[in-house]
Amino acid sequence: MAETKNGVPAMIETLVADIRRILGEEPAGEPMLAALTDRLAPLARDTSWIVDELYETDANQGFGISVLHEEEDDGFLLETVCWEPGRGVAPHDHQTWGVVMGLAGEEINVDWRRLDDGAEPGRASLEQAGETVVTGGVVKTFRPDDIHSIRNDSDRPSLSLHLYGRSLAKTDRSEFNPLAGTVVPCPKRVRRTG
Ligand SMILES: [Fe+2]
Repeated sequence: MAETKNGVPAMIETLVADIRRILGEEPAGEPMLAALTDRLAPLARDTSWIVDELYETDANQGFGISVLHEEEDDGFLLETVCWEPGRGVAPHDHQTWGVVMGLAGEEINVDWRRLDDGAEPGRASLEQAGETVVTGGVVKTFRPDDIHSIRNDSDRPSLSLHLYGRSLAKTDRSEFNPLAGTVVPCPKRVRRTG
């Protein structure tokens, strides 16, 4: 079988074509996110496409991002993220829409609500707004300003599939420290691009 980025079989090409079609048919909004969610769902039901490389992580970062497809001209980004046990990431936004679906293991997704109006540079006040245990087939969708954090409280790695409206590597995002009440530019993540 032909292989594409990061050793994932060519079935990803069919998925990419379907994502292009959906994005061509639906303006950004809830129906678009629902159509994308439906299209991604089979990848959590049959996980035979998942190769061992997708579980590779960056020790400093505590998680590993494997890019499956990055559309040209600032288009959509499809990637998997593997979280090491006991690791996580601070609250952040994406500045684009996103669909995240659990594939294996268990990761805790925490939603945050911003309470201030952003008027004071470098300051942000957040409170927790909800928590979702993301396991195989569980989906979270995000609007550009939504803020979430992730942690893996379990004793084994978790793996999830992430689809974003544009490349996060090229997007200026924010990362928050709820305890300190601060906001800084989101660090650029280490990504395996295959
Ligand atoms: Fe995120």
